Amino acid sequence: MTSPSPRSGLMDRPDSYGPVTRVLHWAMAALLAWQWLGMAVKLVLGRQPLAAFFVGTHASVGLMLLALILLRLVWAGLNAGRRPPHGDGWLGKLAKAGQGVLYLLLLVVPSLALLRALGGTRPLRAFGTEVFAGRETAVPWMTAPADAVHGFLAWTLLVLVTGHVLMALVHQWLLRDGTLRRMA
Ligand code: HEM
Repeated sequence: MTSPSPRSGLMDRPDSYGPVTRVLHWAMAALLAWQWLGMAVKLVLGRQPLAAFFVGTHASVGLMLLALILLRLVWAGLNAGRRPPHGDGWLGKLAKAGQGVLYLLLLVVPSLALLRALGGTRPLRAFGTEVFAGRETAVPWMTAPADAVHGFLAWTLLVLVTGHVLMALVHQWLLRDGTLRRMA
């Protein structure tokens, strides 16, 4: 008989996600909600103090999200084969593919914004500190991708996350198979 790993309480199991995965999941959900709420306020209300407040936190929260998704990818790798299965059949495959697209967008959306900031003329400030200074002249190949798609992909991510939440509710209220409890 093998003795349990000392980390096993933190790791995921086939019947439920462990505490590290849960903290990463819900922290990212809260920070994403903050980003979308802030940008929606900016779009709806225009330039005013509440929107300026949200815009002022956007890069800091976005960089935090980038750090969390990188941690999450490493953690997913360490938990490969231990996680609750998605199920067989096309629904299971669809759920897996959907999760893959979510992970991809969670990586691409803040990464492109960071690349734009690195190639731009304005300094990047996060958590009240200057992360790096702006360049004298912008580098178009670094700024163009985020100019073209950062907002579009961020709203696409919102649509996918909304679908993800709706599916979790379908599992909870219609299928009653305990899917939400594994993460909640
Ligand atoms: C997962 C993280 C992030 C999410 C979900 C997100 C989301 C968004 C959304 C929804 C918009 C509004 C687009 C529109 O006006 O329709 C936006 C704009 C913006 N974001 Fe982010 N963002 C993230 C990370 C970042 C980071 C890390 C930075 C900076 C380093 C950044 C900088 C900007 C800037 C400068 C804008 C205004 C220009 C534009 O629309 O591209 N964002 N973001």
